[in-house]
Formats: sequence, structure tokens, C-alpha cells
Amino acid sequence: MKKTLKALYKKEKLTMITAYDALFAKIFDDLVDIILVGDSLNMSFLGENDTLSATLEQMIYHTKAVCNGAKSAYIVTDMPFGTYNTPQDALKNAIRVYKETKADAVKLEGGAEKAETIKLLTQNGIAVVGHIGLMPQFSRSEGGYIVKGKDKDSIKKLLEDAKAVEEAGAVMLVIEGVKENVAKEITESVNIPTIGIGAGRYTTGQVLVWSDMLGFFEEFKPKFVRRYINGGEIVRSAVRKYVDDVITGKFPSDEEIY
Ligand code: KIV
Repeated sequence: MKKTLKALYKKEKLTMITAYDALFAKIFDDLVDIILVGDSLNMSFLGENDTLSATLEQMIYHTKAVCNGAKSAYIVTDMPFGTYNTPQDALKNAIRVYKETKADAVKLEGGAEKAETIKLLTQNGIAVVGHIGLMPQFSRSEGGYIVKGKDKDSIKKLLEDAKAVEEAGAVMLVIEGVKENVAKEITESVNIPTIGIGAGRYTTGQVLVWSDMLGFFEEFKPKFVRRYINGGEIVRSAVRKYVDDVITGKFPSDEEIY
């Protein structure tokens, strides 16, 4: 059964994972509450160094794939960099996402400065998930991935941003790369669920990028990632075995031929 926002609001802990294709979306579907078609796909799927060059077309393509695979999870898709600079642009592009995919909500990065945009989308029937703290789309302008909430000004801004995003109508809030005590304070100060990534233990839910948590992204492991399996190594050893079986004539066997 499709997970509704109403059902998610009743849960004490929420689980979110990213997916970019139908295969993995189908595997994750009834295990997690929410699937995020993150613009992180630009890095882990396309191999770019950041999320900035992801396009709306790519997001729509991957969101369609995820929606084909997942039938029960609530699906959130990222608005990519440059597609929501003005409220009107955001509305036009979010309408495309809603019309061309079955995503339940769009996610956009930004705090109080995005309140007008979130309000306009919400008023036009589009559910919005906010994203504050470390915002990967700002990594180039900020010169890296910088953890937030380390000083008084930063904490004040985060709390104001969370309130502004909530008041504008966001249905959920992703908090990324924020000190645990600050993410806790934010969570306690809003009435919408918060989903943390590198934000400690006290957010309503957690999100991880699938290729990080399954060990397929091997270049580096951020501190907040827990690798549940070494996917890269598991796949390499299976492919090694396949190659060996072909070379030694063990594959295909009698049972595997017509
Ligand atoms: O793009 C993404 O995967 C995200 C998560 C890191 C929250 O925005």
C-alpha cells in the first residue's frame, strides 16, 4: 500500500534511502518509508565531482525509473541546481516533475530565502521537502562541504531557516551536516518531521545515499556513513568468479543451455 504523508507523520522514526533506478527502488521499496531520488546521482551514478551539473531532464528520467520500481514508498525527488532560482522558475519546473513522474514531493535546498518559493509551490499543490545545513549545491560557492551549527550565528540562522521553511508549508525537512545538539534543537522547534544525514541521533529520521551505505562508493567514506556491506568487493568477487568460469569452461553448464 502506498505510504501517505499522514501515515508517515504518525511514525516516531522515519527511514529514507536514495535510489536512482527501478531495480534498487524495487528492493528498497517496502523496507524504507521514503525513497529520495537525490541529485547525488550526479556523483554516484554519473561519476561527476559534485551535484551541480545535474539537469532537470536527468532527475525526471531517474524519478520515472524509481517510480516504476517502488510502489509503496513515499518518493521525493531533488530539484537540481539552477532550476529554482526564482519562485516562478521553481513552479514551472516542479510542475514538470509532477506531470512527468509520480514523485510525491520535490526537495530543494535553502532556508528563509526559499520560503517564498516553498509557499508558491505548496499553494499550487506541490509538496515540498526543505533541505538546510550543509547544502551540496552550495559546495562550490562555499569552497567545500562545510558542517554547520558550530557557532552562535550559524545556530541562529539554522533555527530561523527551519521555522521559515516550515511556515512556508514544507512537509518535511532534511538537515545535513549539522552538529547533533543543533539538529536536536531544530527537530524540537518544528512540527514537521526532520530527516538527518550527518546530523546525529535526534532527528525524526535518517537518510543515507545507497551507494555509500552498501559500500559501492569506495573513493572515500564520510564520517557519518555506516557501510552495511562492502558492495564493491562483493560484486568484484562475483564477476571474478564469472570470468574464471567462462575461461575454464565451467559456464555455461548442461543446465544452462537450450
Ligand atoms: O542528493 C542527495 O542524495 C541528498 C541527500 C544527501 C540528502 O540530498
